[in-house]
Order: sequence, then structure tokens, then C-alpha cells
Amino acid sequence: MNNISNNDSRPPGSYSDGNLGEVLLSKEAIRTAVEALGKRISDDYAGSRCLTLICVLKGAVVFFSDLIREITVPVTIEFITAKSYGNSSVSAGEVQIVKDIDTDIKGRDVILIEDISDTARTLTSLISKLKKREPNSIKTAVLLDKPSRREVSFVPDYTCFQVGNEFIVGYGLDFAEKYRNLPDIATLIAY
Ligand code: XMP
Ligand code: MG
Repeated sequence: MNNISNNDSRPPGSYSDGNLGEVLLSKEAIRTAVEALGKRISDDYAGSRCLTLICVLKGAVVFFSDLIREITVPVTIEFITAKSYGNSSVSAGEVQIVKDIDTDIKGRDVILIEDISDTARTLTSLISKLKKREPNSIKTAVLLDKPSRREVSFVPDYTCFQVGNEFIVGYGLDFAEKYRNLPDIATLIAY
């Protein structure tokens, strides 16, 4: 896991709308961390013949696409969409599955793959719902962890970067559906 302390001062991605601050994580730094995570997961699940990777849409889609290609054990992939009803624009209160996975995960090893863990309501809720389907194991992998924002106790099993409290976009993360295609992760300075 990497702790972020210094900001890269390169101009962020291809957007020049004045709303983006500094690049917090360059595409090169992300690639290095994703490669290392893929190796760790491959080592931890060596011998597993029934690993299912579940992408939490939409934010995790870029991370997921890169990560699965760094994993060398056999996997199946699934997609899930969670909708949250809460008192905040960015984080979850009540969480409901609005697009479910397509296959039975009973007896399988499962890793839920998410862009960012913030209050942790999304992942803790998804874990409790999916556990009822009796997987052999269920773990979580996040690109980013914002532990200072927790509303429920939760530590992801795999984390690429810990970040502070600022709102960040790019590499799948959005503000109002924008900026998901930025190759870097940058801070959002104007909303
Ligand atoms: P939880 O349930 O952990 O929800 O609060 C995590 C979800 O909150 C969103 N989120 C962010 N999205 N930049 C974003 O683009 C951020 O800095 C950020 N912080 C939280 C995101 O949708 C994530 O899946
Ligand atoms: Mg999300």
C-alpha cells in the first residue's frame, strides 16, 4: 500500500475546464500499483480454480479492466451495480443492488473490486448481501481507500493507495459522470 504525500504537478489529463487541481496519482504510479496488486492476488489464490472477480460499476471499471489482466490464475468476471440512498451526494446510506451478477457464487472464492472505499457502506452492504449466497470466501480489493471518512468499521483486504479527504476524479472516478476517462487521478477543486 502506498501513502500519498507529494503531489505530481503535471497538468491533469486532457481536461482543461479549470475544475481540476493537481494530479494526485499519475497513470504510471497507478500502473505500478495495479501490477503489484495483480501479482499479490495471483500468489494468494494460486491453486484456486474458482475465483470470481466482481466489478462494482461504474467507478471500478477502469481499475477492474487493468487489474484482471495482471492476474495469472483462472478467473470468471461479473458486474454489479449498487445504488445508495443517503444524506450525502457521494456516499451511501441504504444500499440496494440494482444490477445483479449473472451467476451463482456458492462455493466460489470471490473478490469484490471497487474504485474507492469512503464511508464503506457500499462494500460492507454488498459483502453482507453476497455472503448469504454462500461463497467459499469473499474479499475486497480497492484502488483507493479514504479511511478518514468511515461511517462503519471496515478494512479492505487489498488496497493500492490510501488517500486523504479531497474529492478525486479520473481512472473511472467521476463527478456528475464526467472525468471517468482521465488516465490519471486528479483532485477536483471546483464543483
Ligand atoms: P462508500 O459507500 O464507501 O462509497 O461511501 C464509495 C463510493 O463513493 C463515491 N466516492 C467518490 N467518487 N471521488 C469520486 O469520484 C471521490 O473522491 C469519492 N469518494 C467517494 C464513489 O462512487 C465510491 O464508489
Ligand atoms: Mg463507485
